[in-house]
Amino acid sequence: MKGKWKLFCCLVSGMLTAGMDGQAQQFSTLTPAGNFISSEKIPHGYGIQTTDAYISLTSYGATIIRIRLLKNKDEANKRTSFAVIAQPEQDLHLKDSSGGKLTLETDSLQVTINREPVRINFFSKRTGQLLSGDDETLGMAWNGSEVTSYRKMFSDEKFLGLGQKTGDLNHRSTTLVNLNNDAYGFKAGTQPMYSTMPFFMGIHDQCIYGIYFDNTYVSTFDFNLAGEDHNYYSFGATGGEMDYYFFGAPSMSGIIRDYTYITGRMTMPPLYGLGYIQSRYSYMSETEVLDVMKHMREFKMPCDLIFCDIDYMDSFKVFTWDKIRFPHPKQMVDSLKNMGAHLYVILDPALKIQKGYSLYEEGIRDHRFIRYPNGRPFTGSVWAGPSHFTDFLNPETRSWWKDHLKVYTNDGITGFLNDMDEPAIFRKNAPDALLMGDENNPVTFKEGRNVYGYEMARATYEGVKQLTGLRPFNISRSAFSGVQRFASMWTGDNESNDMHMFMDTRMSLSLSMTGLSYVGMNIGGFVGNPTPALMVRWMQLGVYMPLFINHTVGSNPHEPYAFAEPVRSELRSAIRYRYSLLPYLYSAFYQSATAGTPILKALPYGYTFDSLVYKKEYQHEFICGNSLLVVPVASSADSVKMYLPDGLWYR
Ligand code: GLC
Repeated sequence: MKGKWKLFCCLVSGMLTAGMDGQAQQFSTLTPAGNFISSEKIPHGYGIQTTDAYISLTSYGATIIRIRLLKNKDEANKRTSFAVIAQPEQDLHLKDSSGGKLTLETDSLQVTINREPVRINFFSKRTGQLLSGDDETLGMAWNGSEVTSYRKMFSDEKFLGLGQKTGDLNHRSTTLVNLNNDAYGFKAGTQPMYSTMPFFMGIHDQCIYGIYFDNTYVSTFDFNLAGEDHNYYSFGATGGEMDYYFFGAPSMSGIIRDYTYITGRMTMPPLYGLGYIQSRYSYMSETEVLDVMKHMREFKMPCDLIFCDIDYMDSFKVFTWDKIRFPHPKQMVDSLKNMGAHLYVILDPALKIQKGYSLYEEGIRDHRFIRYPNGRPFTGSVWAGPSHFTDFLNPETRSWWKDHLKVYTNDGITGFLNDMDEPAIFRKNAPDALLMGDENNPVTFKEGRNVYGYEMARATYEGVKQLTGLRPFNISRSAFSGVQRFASMWTGDNESNDMHMFMDTRMSLSLSMTGLSYVGMNIGGFVGNPTPALMVRWMQLGVYMPLFINHTVGSNPHEPYAFAEPVRSELRSAIRYRYSLLPYLYSAFYQSATAGTPILKALPYGYTFDSLVYKKEYQHEFICGNSLLVVPVASSADSVKMYLPDGLWYR
């Protein structure tokens, strides 16, 4: 995928060409975008026929232009996007076609298409500045089935976005790969992570732009290409189309507004979803669940949600309860409701292979599982041992899943955590050649893997909504762009140390810039036990996280009342402070639901052209909502150096 041209021996492809001297010649698998032949008006834009390709440019509004590189024009209607929900609108007008280039424009943007070779550049109409464009030397190209856009990189350019990334907020000088993966044990710099959000923003001089690459294959964003002669970066994928949306609004808020116009915005969660969430892998019985909530009440610690992790099930079979430890789920839910609290439960996509397990038997009968090309269901091992994987890319299977959610909604449960939906398989990989989705129009695992979690989250969200009419509380571990319409996310299986607290903050800020506002992290760390000092710092930070969740598998109790004084009181006052912020936070959620505005705003959001905000030492600072500046502090520190951006600030 990365910048090297591959040369294949002709023998490999079977297209042997004999040279004059009888020796086999080599040929390149590289197909560039080619030279301009003709242009034509198409609805909302223009189509360009080149010597090697067909390129369409269409408008989705004055500041949004979609570019597609196709092998030929007929391919234009063959593909539907998983994530995009917007339709083209307004138009691209032809301004000039003289000389070596064609100039198109919307009310805000100007696009030039150089003829030989075809290279596309985007300019701000207001300032005339070049925002972004194809690298003159490389442009867009196929390399075998891979497709890549090589782009100009400005000397001062910074790159933000791309969702869940463990490195620095600014991705310049890094190569980032998107392949949804169970990232257990991740550290700073680890990749790939659980989710894929191929949207980023470039900032240079006084300019900003955004690009969303609408491709679900394994994708690579390379902001670390050598090019000592000139600067360029690339993004591309191992298959599929070069299909991207260019965003040219003049501010980060405008670009995120446009990106969430294309991929959708969150719907308002229930108010209780903004409260404190107590969780553990696992509370082992009904009695334990109720006791935890009773203790929270006794210790005057507000708490709105409590979690049943995988041990609530009978032998980890999804849609079942362990009859001995959880004999009365409805009574448990009712008792929690009497205490003013809600239950949410885990859902796993892998269904145990076991005769008599109705989900498994129905699944086999009705072809509900990811399959080999010969139709046999694929088997992998997860919590329940050998299992088949629910085919969430198939709409009929999603309906089947939605219907089964009755098992929970009939007992009054409307909260879910979609887990292991990368999908995770213990210690093994699934082959790329598996098939998913519609029998007549299947998608390979290679293409569909990165949207598997997205489709699972969607099925659960829509199921709860259809069955109950209530606002679902829905979390997903894996995701793709657009998942914000169905689910919130947390940053995964983190560890109890300062490094993770800071890394999770960066990931949360990056996800927030990528349309996913409803984000949180396991406060105190999932693996391990926090020191009392770390628990306090992390809880104080968690107060500002849209998803305010304390979840762990650590051996010590992590419930706030389990800590000795004075820590217990410090944790209590942090949680209570969160509740005093609820109206403020709820308004921030509403702004996100209506305009895509992130709830957490890293400093570059509001102070995009202040170069100091890109310094690593300030990359964990953020604005929560519109007015609160938050600076995380390490557990060992008494103070922190911070940057006060322009404005009038009160302590
Ligand atoms: C995964 C999840 C974690 C959960 C555990 C058991 O590791 O990330 O949150 O507790 O599985 O279900």
